[in-house]
Amino acid sequence: MENNSATFRPIWLNSAGDTVNVIDQRALPHRRVEMALNSVDQVIFAIREMVVRGAPLIGVTGAFGVFVALKTHPDCLADPAFIRDQAEKIVRARPTAVNLAWAVNRALSAVLAEKDPARRVDVARRTACEITEEEVENSKNIGRYGLPIIEEIARNKPGKPVNILTHCNAGALACIEYGTATAPIYAAHASGIPVHVWVDETRPLNQGSRLTAWELGRAGVPHTVITDNAGGHLMQHGRVDLVIVGTDRTTHTGDVANKIGTYLKALAAKDNGVPFYVALPSSTFDWTLRDGLSEIPIEERDADEVRYIPGAAKSRDYLLMPAESPAANFAFDVTPARLVTGFITERGICRADAADIRRLFPEKYPPEIP
Ligand code: MRU
Repeated sequence: MENNSATFRPIWLNSAGDTVNVIDQRALPHRRVEMALNSVDQVIFAIREMVVRGAPLIGVTGAFGVFVALKTHPDCLADPAFIRDQAEKIVRARPTAVNLAWAVNRALSAVLAEKDPARRVDVARRTACEITEEEVENSKNIGRYGLPIIEEIARNKPGKPVNILTHCNAGALACIEYGTATAPIYAAHASGIPVHVWVDETRPLNQGSRLTAWELGRAGVPHTVITDNAGGHLMQHGRVDLVIVGTDRTTHTGDVANKIGTYLKALAAKDNGVPFYVALPSSTFDWTLRDGLSEIPIEERDADEVRYIPGAAKSRDYLLMPAESPAANFAFDVTPARLVTGFITERGICRADAADIRRLFPEKYPPEIP
């Protein structure tokens, strides 16, 4: 990972192509720590404990997990039940981001379609690499299609920066390169448009203040970290021109699951007439779900993530509240389609409704979905 570059990869194969390495995102921004994923249990640990995180990266890691499962069990290559079981274990690591099931199932299908068991390890590796490159390409195109939205705002306030608010981290760390929400911002910055990003800190794990701020700083994009509750105030005072966020799962009707707090930003944006865009690759659409609120599984994580803020070492975590008070840690919320101005996808921009999503992705709709 070179310094001061907007784009980098948080997952890679070693030069021999037999070991999957990741950046341990828990240590950022203070330390750069790498981790090799040498077993399926390590892959599951990395996803569950958020060594890797962000919907597209979770998917790619899961696909590489199928490769790791086969590579470490050469005696089971001819055993479809074993291979399916390993894949299912990986999918269960985290519930909300649909990319995980999507990518693991794609790797699984490719492996099982290969009738020569001796070639299945190669097929798994190749499929995971293909998904990786597709996600990189998707992010690039999201940047290309999102750029005109920022250009238009910039035209209407010449000489002044376009203020963009984002939540959580939907940057290179979450998406392999460029990011989704960050890709239009990088494209605007590269084309000389003055941009400034309001970065929600994103409690409890601080993906905004730890990761998005770090990425934007490396890329030289002006930004300011704000508390999660500041966005509404800034919108009321005309200090936010645009909101762009990522998503972990979006229904084919346009309901958006994303990091907890996204819904409140969408409400404030609606109340203040601020455009609220969601940037996503097609791998994050769940083509089977209609109603986000009732159907998208919302992960509830360990309450200790709310109780403690990490120090330099686990033993140095800081307790933030009375030790005996109960805490709850809902990791995601659902923003209804009616609050979303539009989706920025790898095929262009669409409204948050089934008909317009279908216009961009007609082949994804099985005939039984009207
Ligand atoms: O819990 P996380 O950090 O995996 O949650 C990530 C997010 O909510 C991101 O905003 C989302 O995955 C979009 S990343 C393209």
